[in-house]
Amino acid sequence: MRDFLQRLPKAELHLHIEGTLEPELMFRLAERNHIALPYADIDEVTEAYRFRHLQEFLDLYYQGMDVLRTPRDFHDLAMDYFVRARNEGVMHIDMHFDPQAHMQRGVPLASVMQGLLSAVRHAERTLDLSVGLIMAFLRDRPVAEAAALLEQARDYWPYLSAVGLDSAERGYPPGRFADVFARAGELGLARVAHAGEEGPAAYVREALDELGVERIDHGVQCMADEALVERLRREQTVLTVCPLSNVSLGIYAAVTEHPLPAMWEAGLNVTLSSDDPAYFGGGMLSNHLACAEAFGWGKSTFLSLGRSAISAGFMPEARRQTLL
Ligand code: ADE
Ligand code: ZN
Repeated sequence: MRDFLQRLPKAELHLHIEGTLEPELMFRLAERNHIALPYADIDEVTEAYRFRHLQEFLDLYYQGMDVLRTPRDFHDLAMDYFVRARNEGVMHIDMHFDPQAHMQRGVPLASVMQGLLSAVRHAERTLDLSVGLIMAFLRDRPVAEAAALLEQARDYWPYLSAVGLDSAERGYPPGRFADVFARAGELGLARVAHAGEEGPAAYVREALDELGVERIDHGVQCMADEALVERLRREQTVLTVCPLSNVSLGIYAAVTEHPLPAMWEAGLNVTLSSDDPAYFGGGMLSNHLACAEAFGWGKSTFLSLGRSAISAGFMPEARRQTLL
């Protein structure tokens, strides 16, 4: 099964590039940029990565990315992950990135974009990997800041596939960002949002109705709302589900408790992703293996999930045809 899952052509639709920062690279970049880390060694980092909920993770996630300062740092971060993912059979990645988390600490948007775009070009040339870019807004920051970022990113609009919405969910309903998402739609960008990760099923409905999103990141809390499940099934809305992430953040006690089998049985358009692989115990292959073990899924289920993700990825049609 491991061989099959590794070779299976996979598209990862929900991946935060800042969440791929492995402790080894964090130490290397800290040294290069003369930054003191709050950890003595890699064991201390691993020890710190025990989260009871989303906010505990976010605190360390925003702290960890402080080592990213220059275009070269962002390039190295992304290439480091692209190589690992490609070795796990990942052929396409829709990659979230969080500009506000960098700009807030004085790193210019241009540094982030130059580094990420050069890595994407390099990966497309040398790794046979395609990459879509999702510029994410932090929902726990002011709406006006998100609106300003979208305008400030004008030079990069042609390189973006979509806008997204992430960070702390509870108490930050998606509808607040309706105008920003409407503007992104006018610009021809696709729209996705995290909803129903820790927050209620109502946020999933709100993201669909008020933000016009075509995909929901996570969405697992929809299972508490029968009418919503029926709607998601009817509309075949893509849900980018991240089982190891959900378990790491205490949403479920174990993968065996995860609602993925019930979501699949309900006819929902689920796909598998890793979210923040450096923090949650592994990438695409680990997530697939965990599902195989916990749910007893066979090859045909994984083939079908893989095709769903490839069908929904932000990639040129010609590329999609080579992967299907
Ligand atoms: N940013 C990075 N990972 C996230 C997650 N799992 N939920 C919300 N925001 C995030
Ligand atoms: Zn996420």
